[in-house]
Amino acid sequence: MASTLFSPIALRGLTLDNRIVVSPMCQYISDDGSAGDWHLMHLGSFSLGAAGLVMTEMTNVNPAGRITAKCAGLYSDANEAALKRVIDFCRKFGVAKLGIQLAHAGRKGSTQPPALGAKPLKPEEGAWETVAPSALAYAPDWPVPRALAKPDLEKTKAEFVSSVQRALRIGYDLIEMHAGHGYLMHQFLSPLSNQRSDEYGGSLENRMRYPLEVFTAMRAAWPGDKPMGARVSATDWVEGGWTPEETVVFARELKKLGCDYVDVSSGALDPRQQIPLGEGYQVGLSDKVRSEAGIPTMTVGLIARAQHAEEIVASGKADFVCLGRGAMWDPRWAWHAAEELGAEAKYAPKTMACHPSMRPWLFPNRKK
Ligand SMILES: Cc1cc2nc3c(=O)[nH]c(=O)nc-3n(C[C@H](O)[C@H](O)[C@H](O)COP(=O)(O)O)c2cc1C
Repeated sequence: MASTLFSPIALRGLTLDNRIVVSPMCQYISDDGSAGDWHLMHLGSFSLGAAGLVMTEMTNVNPAGRITAKCAGLYSDANEAALKRVIDFCRKFGVAKLGIQLAHAGRKGSTQPPALGAKPLKPEEGAWETVAPSALAYAPDWPVPRALAKPDLEKTKAEFVSSVQRALRIGYDLIEMHAGHGYLMHQFLSPLSNQRSDEYGGSLENRMRYPLEVFTAMRAAWPGDKPMGARVSATDWVEGGWTPEETVVFARELKKLGCDYVDVSSGALDPRQQIPLGEGYQVGLSDKVRSEAGIPTMTVGLIARAQHAEEIVASGKADFVCLGRGAMWDPRWAWHAAEELGAEAKYAPKTMACHPSMRPWLFPNRKK
């Protein structure tokens, strides 16, 4: 039986060689938002053939929208030039298609990186003012963000559009709006973080309004033949929070606006969350969004086995499987999965010498 995981798939004018995606992963090593040599290594390595699509980490549309002072940004000419150098490098040697996740951390900004505890920065450590839909802190010991006023909303939307234009000039194949993991867009969606009394808060329609407005503006700045998606947290895993049912409604609205896929993650809005962690624990959420909203989905989270990934896409629970730590563990995961499933993965020209067909003595029982 031919592998579904390794069958090509088209999103608008972009054809991906397989259904494997390297998930966006913050590197906490940018210099005033600008990518450096580490990104040549990190993205360059993945681009050699690990996946059909390699996502650049959460890249923020303004400096205050960064989680940490070392997070990636796409708000200056220097950021754009630095990222273009990395993407040009990936294109020169690699074969994967390249996407970027655009974001704003909202009230989860101004923190130490995870390796240093992920706590909010103190004033003497260079803390900056954070913003959010409402003046509600992420946790009791966190600073209270400033509630965004209407002119702030317009400005932030324009900054998302400006970052889209920069991503286009860099030459990305795909962009994704980050509307999950407790960051700004998710903060608008969830009733736990959005208690506004204007047209951006209250009912589900109102809470979705700002993320949908931003998505619309981004989509208008992104060419019609290039795909654009959104990453969501399908549930807050907290009583009274954002729900899978609301996610389905949101996904339907996104689809109407020209969204090509929803990348279904979960949680990270509220530290009270109770997450039932386990292998593929978010696949059911993807399945629900895909079947009820009728939109292609990516699934992510604790997926590492080739047979499992194959089963997920072959059974229609998701159209793509994203790997984060699994890809870091084995940047050639797709090559190895292809061997296991009797399929073919693309190899960058400079890596062809190691292809199993070149070493039949070591791979006498190849399935193809
Ligand atoms: C180091 C690291 C950085 C991450 N940064 C991002 C990010 O920039 N954007 C995002 O949406 N998710 C981010 N995530 C979450 C991953 O994309 C992924 O959803 C999560 O790790 C679960 O998948 P996994 O079990 O395959 O690692 C990050 C995860 C890790 C481990």
